Formats: sequence, structure tokens, C-alpha cells
Amino acid sequence: MKIVIASDHGGYELKQFLIETFKKEGYDFVDYGTNSEESVDYPDYAIKTCEDVAAGKFDRGILICGTGIGISIAANKVKGIRAAHCTDCFSAKMCKQHNDANVIVLGGRITGPELAAEILRTYLNEKEFLGGRHENRVNKVKAYEEKVYK
Ligand code: RB5
Repeated sequence: MKIVIASDHGGYELKQFLIETFKKEGYDFVDYGTNSEESVDYPDYAIKTCEDVAAGKFDRGILICGTGIGISIAANKVKGIRAAHCTDCFSAKMCKQHNDANVIVLGGRITGPELAAEILRTYLNEKEFLGGRHENRVNKVKAYEEKVYK
């Protein structure tokens, strides 16, 4: 599975922790920055990352800002992106099963590192989109995107 990770300054520390933690578990995330705690703008990181996920360069994306809110708002503007802001493991599992989320979002100032790692582990281990009625709903979102995004 090809996975990209990015954050703004508010998510930088957690991003570095997750890269190191998951390296030990056999993952090799592609890091799209940011590369320090110097202030940057989260839309720049969300949009670049999500465009590459939507284009199929990556199977999944991980985005982190301070709260997880700004970067998820920006991420969900990109056509084809279903970004799920998760603060618990149940949501991390359901966002794949029910929503076919291709990006998970975490809040570096909200969720502690070990819980964030467990949330991410849950998301990455969940491979199955259940389809059926859930697919109908996701398809309605896709149809709306087709209508409004030229
Ligand atoms: C940056 O200070 C902060 O506003 C940002 O990381 C994020 O929390 C926005 O939603």
C-alpha cells in the first residue's frame, strides 16, 4: 500500500512520531512535509497531498494539523477525496467500511501520540469498504462532484 503523509506546523511533531513509529512496523510513508514547526498554511499541504491521492499516485493519505479541522476542510474540496477526521478507533474503522475514506485526518494538538498511532493503525488495517447501501451513498457524493467540478 502506497501511503503519503503531510502536516502543517501544528501537526509536525505528531507526523514525525507517526513516520518513525510506523517505520518500525514496516510502513514507508512518503513525506510531503512540512519539515519544521515554522508556521505554514494547511491548505497548501492538504491540496498537494490530496491531488496525488485522487490521481492514484497513493492508495491512502494521512493529514495532520493542530485540530485536524482546517486540513480536513481543505482536503474534502479536492475531487475524489473522502477525508475522515478521526479522534477514535471506531471511527477509523468505520470511515473505511462505510465511507471508503481515502484520507485520514488527525489533530496534533488534540490526540496524543499513542492514541493517534492506534487510530492510524486501525485505519490502515481496515481494508474493506462494505459497499451495498454505503456504496449508493458514496456514489451520491461522487455524482455531486461530477455535477459541480468541471
Ligand atoms: C495552526 O495554528 C492551526 O490553526 C492549524 O494547525 C489547524 O488547527 C487549523 O484548523
